Amino acid sequence: MSLIVSNVRKDYSTRSGPLPVLGGVSLTLNHGDAVAVMGPSGSGKSTLLHILGTLDQPTGGTVSLDGVNPFVLKPAELAAFRNRRIGFVFQDHHLLPQASVLENVLVPTFVNRSLKRKDAEGYARELLDRVGLSKRLTHRPAELSGGERQRVAVARALIHRPVLLLADEPTGNLDRTNAESVGNLLLDLHRQQNTMLVVVTHSSELAKLFPRRVEMNDGRLSERGA
Ligand SMILES: Nc1ncnc2c1ncn2[C@@H]1O[C@H](COP(=O)(O)OP(=O)(O)OP(=O)(O)O)[C@@H](O)[C@H]1O
Ligand SMILES: [Mg+2]
Repeated sequence: MSLIVSNVRKDYSTRSGPLPVLGGVSLTLNHGDAVAVMGPSGSGKSTLLHILGTLDQPTGGTVSLDGVNPFVLKPAELAAFRNRRIGFVFQDHHLLPQASVLENVLVPTFVNRSLKRKDAEGYARELLDRVGLSKRLTHRPAELSGGERQRVAVARALIHRPVLLLADEPTGNLDRTNAESVGNLLLDLHRQQNTMLVVVTHSSELAKLFPRRVEMNDGRLSERGA
């Protein structure tokens, strides 16, 4: 398993013409690697994460996940590829307000008919237990704290045992204690499951927990020392 990002460029088209945001980004992650992405606001971190997550197309360069270039797939194939191989955790949890904690974790499996309902539910319960929420299965997101909601989002991102887990400022809205616990949780799960993990963060405390750190500046990535 690997993620190979090679000379990725991204221009957004705007009313005043193309806006160059990524100016040739290269990054390789192997099975079991974890990297923290830091860098100033507006430098292109979320743009890169969206491209890694196949939610947006690069203007140039290539991305290969597990040997597959996702951007040549047809829309339905790409959606299935993303759903099964990539997990996302956003800054805002993006949970469904009307669904229970357990249902929220199961949402990605509703479109994946290859997964048996019982197995999916069993694994969702296991993940929720792992993130410390086994007693909250029937709660609605509004009945949880910010940190608890973010832990549900982590469990949901992992339901398909993704090869790549992406998190964009997952602890940005949390206080220090919750930020630390969600950060450690991501790293623990990554180590247990050998998932490749890419986390964008403004927190140097969170970044310090990572074996590898990179910094985005004006659309270019550079390695930071350990
Ligand atoms: N859809 C879009 N159309 C045009 N420009 C965009 C679009 N999305 C982002 N940008 C621009 O691209 C640049 C990089 O944005 P991006 O969201 O990747 O930054 P970031 O590093 O994640 O910043 P932050 O730390 O504030 O989240 C910014 O200047 C932003 O205005
Ligand atoms: Mg961002």
